[in-house]
Amino acid sequence: MKILVTGGAGFIGSHTVVELVHAGFEPIIVDNFSNSDLSIVGKIQEITGRKISFYQIDCKLDDHLEPIFLENPEIEGVIHFAAYKAVGESVSEPEKYYHNNIASLTCVCRMMKKYGVNKFVFSSSCTVYGNPEVIPVNEKAPIKEALNPYAHTKQLAEEILFGLCQYNQDLEVVILRYFNPIGAHESGLIGELPIGVPNNLVPYITQTAAGWRDSLVVFGKDYSTADGTCIRDFIHVEDLAKAHLKALMWKNPESNLEVFNIGSGVGHSVQSLIDIFINETGIDFPVKYGERRPGDIPAIFASAEKALGLLNWKTERTLEEALRHAWNWQQTLEKTE
Ligand code: UFG
Repeated sequence: MKILVTGGAGFIGSHTVVELVHAGFEPIIVDNFSNSDLSIVGKIQEITGRKISFYQIDCKLDDHLEPIFLENPEIEGVIHFAAYKAVGESVSEPEKYYHNNIASLTCVCRMMKKYGVNKFVFSSSCTVYGNPEVIPVNEKAPIKEALNPYAHTKQLAEEILFGLCQYNQDLEVVILRYFNPIGAHESGLIGELPIGVPNNLVPYITQTAAGWRDSLVVFGKDYSTADGTCIRDFIHVEDLAKAHLKALMWKNPESNLEVFNIGSGVGHSVQSLIDIFINETGIDFPVKYGERRPGDIPAIFASAEKALGLLNWKTERTLEEALRHAWNWQQTLEKTE
């Protein structure tokens, strides 16, 4: 079965492409390499031992996307990762975020309709919950006012998909709300490629441990959590990738749209993640404690029960493995900035 994977050379996309091949699917990558690299496609081929079709295109442009549907009439589903994802940049350049993230979604959906493709898996985020009143947060929790334009694009995208599913009963959509993906492929061949100084915690930890950064700054040690640092639900990217396969196979005769949290169901503090990293790798590095980062939520982790009950999906990798794999991956990288 041919599956179009937009953003298939990105962090989560590349791991999903590997899992798709392992499960017997035929993924087709489309990526504009704005936040990824062509070399990743070669690495995916190395891991899977298979030639992977890929197109360097911008999927918010009809004339880029349409030829791919024309050339591949056997496409039966789309997994849509392609989107900008840097929270800070979305605040400074909101127009870019709204345009890219929404136009790519609607363009892909239009092409799907035109070429009779109905299966769609969408990359959403727990950011749609804002600061939840109850944790673990489940899928019925209210969608709060977005904390930044990036989060807003995810909320808007979900709304568009709800609307499309209401008026097009043939469409089958699964929305996956990811918690905090970390780690890298166990082969050490693919992983996260942050451009410049990373925003996210784990790439910052690995780059500091590698000596690329002077010290890690923990943003806030005065939260009302056990150790004063924020709590997140970190999941291994390989587990997250596997959830997309379950989502592709999901069928519910009662409803053509379903939303799933994709998290471990367990919260870990930023401090405990640092401690586990040091313990696992034996690499110590300088840590400073700074101000809270504006917009950070004190604590969030998933109720992962729906994904377990309906998709039969749960995390299998440990946090220790995820951090070890992130470190293995880091050691293959060369410093750019
Ligand atoms: N943190 C630090 N120092 C750093 C980087 C991060 O202390 O250098 C802390 C943050 O303050 C936060 C935690 O580590 O408490 C996790 O931060 P990340 O930036 O790694 O992840 P976030 O939880 O902020 O964001 C992630 C995704 C977003 C998504 C969001 C949903 O990166 O795309 O989860 O909550 F929107």
